[in-house]
Amino acid sequence: MVGASPSRSPDAPVLVFDSGIGGLSVLGPIQALLPQAPIVYAADYAAMPYGTKSEAEIAARVPALLGRLVERFHPRIAVIACNTASTIALDHVRAALNIPVVGTVPAIKPASELSKSGVIGVLGTDATVRQPYVARLAEQFAGDATILRHGSGDLVLAAEAKLRGEHRDPAVFAAAMAGLTRQPGGDAMDVVVLACTHFPLVRDELSAVAPGIAFVDGAAGIARRVEYLTRTQAWPDRPSAGRAVFTRLDAREREYADALNAYGLSTIELL
Ligand code: DGL
Repeated sequence: MVGASPSRSPDAPVLVFDSGIGGLSVLGPIQALLPQAPIVYAADYAAMPYGTKSEAEIAARVPALLGRLVERFHPRIAVIACNTASTIALDHVRAALNIPVVGTVPAIKPASELSKSGVIGVLGTDATVRQPYVARLAEQFAGDATILRHGSGDLVLAAEAKLRGEHRDPAVFAAAMAGLTRQPGGDAMDVVVLACTHFPLVRDELSAVAPGIAFVDGAAGIARRVEYLTRTQAWPDRPSAGRAVFTRLDAREREYADALNAYGLSTIELL
């Protein structure tokens, strides 16, 4: 087991982890609730994208990597801000670490509460949408609804490109939505679960090609969970600069500096 000692300093960070930049969509709501929280944002660029990898690869890689991050940064809590890693490896990570671990679960429950037509889309990575975990959530929380699923790796890459400041081809967003609406029952779909943390970063682009459809994600719920689990703990008196740590740091990864700065992450280091 890897983790922190019980006498934790107020400077102990919150570790937010994703394959890439998608976890920023979760970090924003965490920072809104806990502005004093010191942040370490970790991105596994050496293995991004996760969505095209096998279950075995993710299940082997993610717990080992989280173990290294915990040893290095001694966080008070770890947030797996990635649906792909959470739906496949959350139990393995929890077994490997002795700090609280908060995962990301596709927001099917709030979507079913919001949908009037009873047709809900789940837009995630290929790896996430094929998980039995997603089917179980649908059964548990949206038993009467029709759940359409579509995996889009292109949308992950479009979100990455946006945060590097690059041009995105609008056809990518239309194609991702068509992957849902072209399925039987798709014309009645009124709510889409953004079941990949990259996708809220391109919510405006998705909305532009799908007027009238509501998009939901689980980031606010994750932030409330982090706040709840740390409610008795001390924080620094004022917000401090956060740090990003990447498993690969070449010229391309350095292009994220502006996007990271917008979340108070002022340095990027190599794990
Ligand atoms: N952001 C990730 C997710 O929530 C995965 C993106 C990827 O690496 O494919 O699923």
